[in-house]
Amino acid sequence: MAKFLNFFTSDKSEEITLNMDSIPKHIGIIMDGNGRWAKAKGLPRSAGHKAGVETIREVLVECNDLGVKYLTIYAFSSENWKRPKDEVNTLMSLLVQYLRKELNEIHKEKVVIKTLGDLSALPELCVKEIEDAKEKTKDNTGLVFNIALNYGGRDEIIHAVKKLYKDVESGKVKEEEIDKEIFEQYLYTAGMPDPDIIIRTSGEQRLSNFLPWQSTYSEFWFTDINWPDFKKDTLRKAIYDYQNRERRFGGVK
Ligand code: IPE
Ligand code: IPE
Ligand code: MG
Repeated sequence: MAKFLNFFTSDKSEEITLNMDSIPKHIGIIMDGNGRWAKAKGLPRSAGHKAGVETIREVLVECNDLGVKYLTIYAFSSENWKRPKDEVNTLMSLLVQYLRKELNEIHKEKVVIKTLGDLSALPELCVKEIEDAKEKTKDNTGLVFNIALNYGGRDEIIHAVKKLYKDVESGKVKEEEIDKEIFEQYLYTAGMPDPDIIIRTSGEQRLSNFLPWQSTYSEFWFTDINWPDFKKDTLRKAIYDYQNRERRFGGVK
């Protein structure tokens, strides 16, 4: 028998029923609007990023409670290096602080931490903290928490092509064997299902280089809410809308 979860939206205007049997397996989130959130409050952008970390905490717990299997957050894009040095440093140090503060709890919840992206360009301290977190949680059996860090979808594809090329050269893979399934094994998301839904906050409606290969059949969900104001109810509403869409994958119903 299907299980349901009833709840009211945060403004109490709507009662919503989630079908717990069709919770998306993989949710991708483009966390956007930290800077605008801060600006609207007359605060520095760093305050927005700080507040955004609290949202990550809340969303991770909620995804775990709802039974989501993979949560991928876009934390730092390969294009975000264009930002002022101070801001980049703030983002990196917030990541380190977040891991230091949350790792034990995350581990207790059986979450597996993974990263998507090229970590080699990150500050050494950051890399160490992340590698330790991945190592500590690698045998956990719960939700897979992917942090996209210095991630760019086009870079990911080039990176995959180069690795695949090497395997073709060495004879490990034959050219005629290459298909979508083989190719996907060379992406950062190897072995993971594609995101069922991609959420972007702050009113922007674009991918900004987030999971272009994996999102070809994802449902997109946009909200004007800035990331620091995104709450678990907003996530539930996104999932509710997702459950009321018809995914056809090119076929007919
Ligand atoms: C998202 O918020 C955080 C990151 C990209 C790391 P922004 O910093 O992009 O906030 P806006 O878009 O300037 O408001
Ligand atoms: C996308 O947000 C990157 C992350 C959320 C990490 P941006 O704020 O960098 O994207 P654009 O520049 O508005 O496309
Ligand atoms: Mg932005």
